[in-house]
Amino acid sequence: MSHPDLFGDLPPTGLVSLPSSATLASAAEKAEKLRTLLHHHAHAYYTLDAPEIPDVEYDRLFRELQALESSHPQLLTSDSPTQRVGGAVLDAFAQVTHRVPMLSIRTETDTEASGAEAFDARIRKELGWVETDPPVSYVGELKFDGLAMSLRYENGVLVLAATRGDGETGEEVTANIRTIGQIPLRLPSDAPAVLEVRGEVYMRRDDFEALNERQRQRIAAGQKGEKTFVNPRNAAAGAVRQLDSGIAAERPLSFFAYGLGDITPAADGGPAWLAHHDMLMQLKAWGFPVAEQTACVQGAAGLVAFHQRIAAERDTLPYDIDGVVYKVNDLALQARLGYVTREPRWAVAHKYPAQEAMTTVQTIDVQVGRTGKLTPVAKLSPVFVGGVTVTNATLHNELEARRKDVRVGDTVIVRRAGDVIPEVVSVVLDRRPAEAPQFTMLSHCPVCGSLAEREEGEADHRCTGGLFCSAQRKQAIWHFAHRRAMDVDGLGDKLVDQLVDAGHVKTLADLYHLKLETLSNMDRMADKSAVNLLQALEQSKKTTLGRFLFSLGIRHVGEATAKELARHFGQLDAVMAASEDALLQVADVGPVVAHSIHTFFAQPHNREVVQALRDAGITWPEGEALAPTEMPLAGITVVLTGTLQSMGRDEAKERLEALGAKVAGSVSQKTHYVVAGAEAGSKLDKALALGLPVLDDAGLAVLLSGDRP
Ligand code: IVH
Repeated sequence: MSHPDLFGDLPPTGLVSLPSSATLASAAEKAEKLRTLLHHHAHAYYTLDAPEIPDVEYDRLFRELQALESSHPQLLTSDSPTQRVGGAVLDAFAQVTHRVPMLSIRTETDTEASGAEAFDARIRKELGWVETDPPVSYVGELKFDGLAMSLRYENGVLVLAATRGDGETGEEVTANIRTIGQIPLRLPSDAPAVLEVRGEVYMRRDDFEALNERQRQRIAAGQKGEKTFVNPRNAAAGAVRQLDSGIAAERPLSFFAYGLGDITPAADGGPAWLAHHDMLMQLKAWGFPVAEQTACVQGAAGLVAFHQRIAAERDTLPYDIDGVVYKVNDLALQARLGYVTREPRWAVAHKYPAQEAMTTVQTIDVQVGRTGKLTPVAKLSPVFVGGVTVTNATLHNELEARRKDVRVGDTVIVRRAGDVIPEVVSVVLDRRPAEAPQFTMLSHCPVCGSLAEREEGEADHRCTGGLFCSAQRKQAIWHFAHRRAMDVDGLGDKLVDQLVDAGHVKTLADLYHLKLETLSNMDRMADKSAVNLLQALEQSKKTTLGRFLFSLGIRHVGEATAKELARHFGQLDAVMAASEDALLQVADVGPVVAHSIHTFFAQPHNREVVQALRDAGITWPEGEALAPTEMPLAGITVVLTGTLQSMGRDEAKERLEALGAKVAGSVSQKTHYVVAGAEAGSKLDKALALGLPVLDDAGLAVLLSGDRP
């Protein structure tokens, strides 16, 4: 990377070693050039997220400047990028009196659209505007969940960073704030002589999770005084209020600007903005991060639409927001509206329902899944979060439960964002009851008592009871009856529970020997439903080999693999007799899957179940083993995405597969065609990035005619 305009006279690599004759003046000049260059690249990297040079190159420039400054300490300036790394250790923070107080905003707690409408109505009333007046112009912003910060620049250099404190007086945290890469240490020359930028310091969720992971490792290693943080805001506040700026530098913080404090215009003129949004755009031009969602909107309808749009986007943001903020855009109108106590009349925070809540762990249960997987589940004191009452949070497996170190009796933070299953974010260690024991996985299945085992290299424990375990049996039956397996309509969860618990169904084949009387006697089973179920069972007997293989619930054998097996071998006996080597010949079957299939059919009780099902009358058209190459689309992998015009995705999949194509769920180098319908998303993006052929409905039709477009 060369920047000859800036420092063509520096050696391309290695540290600067100034010739002994070099004057301090030339060193000063070099230091200044390096600072300018590093500021430029830090902005590109941290704020624009568009680095122009590789990290190693940045590091090299950085070390050059460090070396210059250490051999000429008089060259060190407070805005030098080398001052971002932290180091100063304080006894206490100095108090700072804000020249312009840091206000707060009124919060609208009505989380519905009516909250936005009420704000607009109030503004219009205050302004004395009537119906015939135009809609008020507003700026919609995100309400970041961090802590407020005031950044003071004098002659373009960051001289002071202060917390809000009580609004009048805050704490001076400049050394810590300098460690935030997104905050400019110096501004372009057109910036005002004095400029106080107000905004929010926050921590991204991924940075928060990585920080907590490091903290857990430190705690596990016995380091005293370390703790995990309950949420990103708490972690950000802890980092900002660190007396040791070296520690603050290890805790990655981010920043968004949303307003101004004190300002003295540059000698050559005042600020060139009359509206809040224009001011934000100017801050952006000066190098401050401004959230891209920030938008000018008109009237109540604009506010409501903004609130809804951001609500939909909320879960995909890499940081937490707890609402949006509406501000009157026109600064003259802001001045007319003024303030009540410490709050401007021209702004309001409009909240969203909380996504996190605190509750306690009553117990940790272990649940048994279809394949015998044992899952620890925290049973919580009911808590309302993300719009629903949550009582369970999965802990996934023993390793995960131990990693987060969740214990019975713990106070925990649970998070439910969007439709994602609730999870425990963190444990509030201060509130842990004395002698709460660490979680350990059961040695035996809680349902059938069989040994629980964890295979080498796997995270999950499994019950070894197989279909002897009623939990596995129940789920094996649900799976068997699934629409894409044997398609038995009317065999719901509750009914399966009863049938298994009452001992009517011990193996899958018992389903086909159920009597009308038995079924009618089950709870909540009308005669009509019993008759329908018997009919559905009867109909399910005519099936395909692929569906039958899938319905057996062999571990690692999904729908696609089952179809592939059926196509490859043609007959069930051939599949059952196949060696692992023979199974490996099937497209998509690797050693793990081959081993699983072979082991399944090697077990006498599984062979008995298969025989009993055939004896019960289950049939399918058996074919010859098809040499895959005889089929028109053999060897072709297709990915379907978006909404197709001509047919549903299921139908397209079935028809493509019938011609020998493989229909995959994700796009890779191995994909031959991507068929993209309306509103195709990331799969289409990936296909285009990889340069794969993308087909529309017409292209799909060509494929289905057996040709390769
Ligand atoms: S404006 C004059 N805008 O919310 C109004 N505040 O009570 C001053 N906050 O602690 C604040 N996002 O840290 C404003 N887009 C935003 C904000 C925001 C978050 C925080 C701010 C303050 C609190 C306001």
